[in-house]
Amino acid sequence: MGKCARGIALDILGSQSGPPGVSHALESLDKRDRALVKELVTGVERWKRFLDYYVSFFCHRPVERLSPKVLSALRLGVYQMILMGLPPYAAIDSIVRCLGSKGERGFVNGVLRTISRNRGHIEMPSIDTHLEDYAAVRYSFPDWIVGRYFRYFGNTQSLSLLKIQNQPQPITLRANTTKVDRDSLLKLFQDKGYLAQPGNLDISIKVDKGRAVEEFPGYDQGLFAVQDEGAMLATLALAPEPGDVVWDVCAAPGGKTTHLAEIVSDNGFVVASDVDSGRADMISQSCRRLGLNNVATAVVDATSEAAVESGLRERGLPLKYDKILVDAPCSGLGVIAKNADIKWRRRESDIPQMAKRQAEILNVARGFLKSGGTLVYSTCTLTHEENEAVWGNFVKKHNLRAVVPVTEVTFGPGHISPKVSTKGGYMHVLPHVHGTDGFFVAKAIG
Ligand SMILES: C[S@@+](CC[C@H](N)C(=O)[O-])C[C@H]1O[C@@H](n2cnc3c(N)ncnc32)[C@H](O)[C@@H]1O
Repeated sequence: MGKCARGIALDILGSQSGPPGVSHALESLDKRDRALVKELVTGVERWKRFLDYYVSFFCHRPVERLSPKVLSALRLGVYQMILMGLPPYAAIDSIVRCLGSKGERGFVNGVLRTISRNRGHIEMPSIDTHLEDYAAVRYSFPDWIVGRYFRYFGNTQSLSLLKIQNQPQPITLRANTTKVDRDSLLKLFQDKGYLAQPGNLDISIKVDKGRAVEEFPGYDQGLFAVQDEGAMLATLALAPEPGDVVWDVCAAPGGKTTHLAEIVSDNGFVVASDVDSGRADMISQSCRRLGLNNVATAVVDATSEAAVESGLRERGLPLKYDKILVDAPCSGLGVIAKNADIKWRRRESDIPQMAKRQAEILNVARGFLKSGGTLVYSTCTLTHEENEAVWGNFVKKHNLRAVVPVTEVTFGPGHISPKVSTKGGYMHVLPHVHGTDGFFVAKAIG
């Protein structure tokens, strides 16, 4: 007999690099069980710190000394009991049954039963005297991210941001306007029985998940790209127009490249480069699916002017551009809602290195901008060093005229319609305000 959903979730969570045979095991499950595996694995990844707080509070052995399998079983049990609201007997038995040895079963059963009896007596850090500690445990974030959020956004906004970054997000699609308009795309999804609604932009729709994107109507015909609305705004900030020659400097996997290519149309042209050749191939695949023939890809390291120049020359590509987009590699704190692993993988010490690389890329990109051309800098992160600081230094160094990227974009359903803030001349698109990924977008004329 094949493994059950919880057994597979436990195998995935308990192994460092993905257990052998997991994709085969997943295929043997029906749709509902596959969705359950996904919910359990992403839920535990998201709530790891919160779950470990419960385990540490009630288990006499430190969590660092538990085997990955036992720790994952305890996390899964607490997740099902506290966050999914399963009755304790079901939450506990369904996990204990998946364990192999008698010793593991006895231990996990004992700890989970203690938690179920005493869960009302857990002591959280005080919300009055230790608000940041409380938030880090309650919303399951590392201390350093919480500290930064509180300094950057203040208490109230930070709590909203932490909360929303733990919530599953609806999927946003960008209509491929060379083939279909937004309303026809929406109708196609609704006619096929999907829960779909218009997005906040006239090119976007939101669709309730439930099926793989590849199974969505119109996927094979290239009628849409999956993209967050914050990312769409970063592209729109460049104000691309038909006929423009654009360089998308850090382009893979090509979300913004394909959007640019749709707008500059057949009399315009996009050069999409990336340092990673495997990722650059993804750009070409996307262009093929979307039917876009006005994109040339190049593999270049944009921190080196000489490497860029020879890479572009080799491929017979232009050395001066009307418009340049630097969607820089960054610490990614703005996309935690979709990629919870960033919380645990990223280190605060990465940030200065990121900022250094961003500055290098911007300085190189500047050399390829036509006089009077437009350059947009965007990141999907929320740190001052990578955003305002990198941009401020760049604009000063090159004596550029910074301009407000996009004005008057109103977001939100019904009566809540916050405008994208362009305070300071930058655009901040924020998860807790706009329901998007977090983006920073800045723009200058060369
Ligand atoms: C934020 S992602 C870009 C996302 C892309 N613009 C999109 O919308 O799909 C940053 C990209 O920068 C690339 N990158 C990192 N260092 C680079 C470098 N030195 N030169 C060029 N690209 C680089 C990474 O490989 C990654 O694909």
